Amino acid sequence: MTALAVENLSIAFEGAKGRFAAVRDVGFAVEKGETFGLIGPSGCGKTTVLRAIAGLNTNWAGSIQVFGQALQPERKITGALRRDIQMVFQDPYSSLHPRHHIRRILGEPLAIQGSTTVEADVLEALRRVGLPSAVAGRYPHQLSGGQRQRVAIARALLRKPKLLLLDEPTSALDVSVQAEILNLLNDLKASEGMTLVLVSHDPGVVAHMCDRAVRMEKGAILRAMTRNDFDAAPSE
Ligand SMILES: Nc1ncnc2c1ncn2[C@@H]1O[C@H](COP(=O)(O)OP(=O)(O)O)[C@@H](O)[C@H]1O
Ligand SMILES: [Mg+2]
Repeated sequence: MTALAVENLSIAFEGAKGRFAAVRDVGFAVEKGETFGLIGPSGCGKTTVLRAIAGLNTNWAGSIQVFGQALQPERKITGALRRDIQMVFQDPYSSLHPRHHIRRILGEPLAIQGSTTVEADVLEALRRVGLPSAVAGRYPHQLSGGQRQRVAIARALLRKPKLLLLDEPTSALDVSVQAEILNLLNDLKASEGMTLVLVSHDPGVVAHMCDRAVRMEKGAILRAMTRNDFDAAPSE
């Protein structure tokens, strides 16, 4: 089954110097259960593609289908699909509310949904990402970068996503904790049955994680890659 099908995706931004085509005619398909890489140098359009799939930018042209359901340009994603697609951002610090403790960051969306087991769900989410329950009472600035990214992953998992979009999830972290987070993501992918799309400019990360990948440059796809190609990939 195809988890994600992107066809002829084009995304432009209006700027002072006119229209800038950030993504041009991009297409790729991701099978259910795969980890699919989107790689290429800084500024080539990786985050822009991911934000469109996540529904964070609806100003695009082309076709995006998630588990057979078409997203519509200029429309917010609604219904179950909104939970099915979750995104983890590059910088876990700016994606977590600085004045809310972790219990509130993780628990508030659950409370809004009417959950009566918020505290238990929060502690279970922390456990699943390898954090002690004491983390619930802390603020983001009281955690390490790796712990913050684990919280961001826990927040995404609480929606029980089927498609997890990861935007350079380890590039803001110390090298020593990068592998821990990547291994956690691999474990969670297996236990939760998720499909992953991983954006990275790091060939080592892609080789460690991905089944297949596409390489982007200047907004377009340069080539498709399978595991055999990863070792030969030039570093950025
Ligand atoms: N909101 C925006 N407005 C104008 N230009 C943007 C916006 N977001 C991204 N861009 C531009 O689009 C290009 C691709 O950006 P991005 O997708 O963030 O690249 P990557 O994630 O591969 O580093 C860059 O030239 C960037 O400056
Ligand atoms: Mg980016």
